[in-house]
Amino acid sequence: MGRVLQLSPEEMRKLPRQLKAYSPWLANFQASKYSEVLELPGQYTGMSKPLPEYHVKISSFDENVLLMSSMRVPMRIIIRGDDEKEYKFLVKWGEDLRTDQRMEQMFTLMNSIYARSPLCTKASSVPSLDTYQVIPLSLRVGILQWVDSTQPLKDFINDSYRENETKCYGEARALYGKNENYTVAKKAKKRDVIKAYEEVVNKIPWDVLRRGLVRMSSSTEGFFSLRSAFAVSYAALCISQWLLGIGDRHCSNSLVSLKTGRVIGIDFGHHFESAVQFLPVPELMPFRLSPQIVNVFQPIGQVGMLKEIMVSALGALQESRHVLTAVLEAFVKEPTKDWLDFVQKQEGDTQDSKVELFSSKRIELLNDKLSDINPAYITLWAVSQNKFVAKQKAYENLKQAVLGDRGESVRASVGERGLSTHQQVDILLEQATDPNILGRSWIGWDPFL
Ligand SMILES: Nc1ncnc2c1ncn2[C@@H]1O[C@H](COP(=O)(O)OP(=O)(O)O)[C@@H](O)[C@H]1O
Ligand SMILES: [Mg+2]
Repeated sequence: MGRVLQLSPEEMRKLPRQLKAYSPWLANFQASKYSEVLELPGQYTGMSKPLPEYHVKISSFDENVLLMSSMRVPMRIIIRGDDEKEYKFLVKWGEDLRTDQRMEQMFTLMNSIYARSPLCTKASSVPSLDTYQVIPLSLRVGILQWVDSTQPLKDFINDSYRENETKCYGEARALYGKNENYTVAKKAKKRDVIKAYEEVVNKIPWDVLRRGLVRMSSSTEGFFSLRSAFAVSYAALCISQWLLGIGDRHCSNSLVSLKTGRVIGIDFGHHFESAVQFLPVPELMPFRLSPQIVNVFQPIGQVGMLKEIMVSALGALQESRHVLTAVLEAFVKEPTKDWLDFVQKQEGDTQDSKVELFSSKRIELLNDKLSDINPAYITLWAVSQNKFVAKQKAYENLKQAVLGDRGESVRASVGERGLSTHQQVDILLEQATDPNILGRSWIGWDPFL
């Protein structure tokens, strides 16, 4: 989730890759030599009555682990089941994974809403999200189901540069970095931000991500159907994640399925606008619709391919508003560690009354999104709470960027309430692609990609 210092490549290289270095007990475990049975995790879905006698049991653990180079260096382990199959899990520490578990539960609920709503079933494609099991073990450790044959969006893009283009990402990043202090933290004018941002975007070929999808397809028709799978999943993901205020949508927090072309969201530590409210460089866009993603849909444009699905998805969720808020209300009765950390950051302590206030505001935000609010006002509220920027000179500029200019942007030209689902989606698309917002974002988000 957050942005603490990462290990250097040198430090990463020195870490052991053998399970026994982390847990000799697990490394030595052999079901045949142990009197108790250990079930494979993740078989209690809560969706039906469990039948433990049919559950897969653990035979042993693979001796090797894979370390991920992201912030907390999560570790992938492989469990061998008594059904002769191998099961991969990611072990994560330093986080209360109940957050991710609840987000996945909300996604599962949204899937059932999408599948039932006539708004979705009558549309050309039914929105849906790929979900995975999350199993919290304690407040600091948990495991999640590894989704096979996927690649983080960042790596998927990286693999598509041509030989003579290997330097362009580094150059773009360096240029953005040079401008960053000026555009993000200082009182940069809209015109200058856009000019600087566009210069950076132009350093990268327009179609790198798109080439990845082309590479996966064996024919032109294949490309169109893969792109359509990408669009349907991504549009549903954007709407679902936006409703839950999920941020930190940098390119390593979305996975692309190498089998289907569908996009899968991961890592939900920033939720309920926390990436706008608490990060030093607030994430002002509702979801990631950066140039490489938009260009996947050329020449039709995102309007044709994404908008229709987003409108049907949001409309369906709005019809089921009461179910979604009821589930959220149940969650906030038992706040996660992240939730309490956010209250601590905002209020200075975690007295019950402050937790309650924080939680009821989050329920209100969800309700607003599921009613008729202008999405830009959600961001405006969250940025007004951000202690890093609210008292700075940059604040007025950020507010202006969020709302856009009257006459130029839809979000500035309509009021705070009374919007139709179509208008809400128009504004979401506009805000997510606004160069005056993208150009003021955290460099690690790769706003130019
Ligand atoms: N469910 C999953 N299936 C497959 N790969 C995953 C899954 N979750 C995470 N990963 C991989 O692990 C990396 C780090 O995971 P993430 O949850 O983002 O950790 P961090 O909190 O350290 O950023 C991801 O970029 C991705 O490569
Ligand atoms: Mg991550």
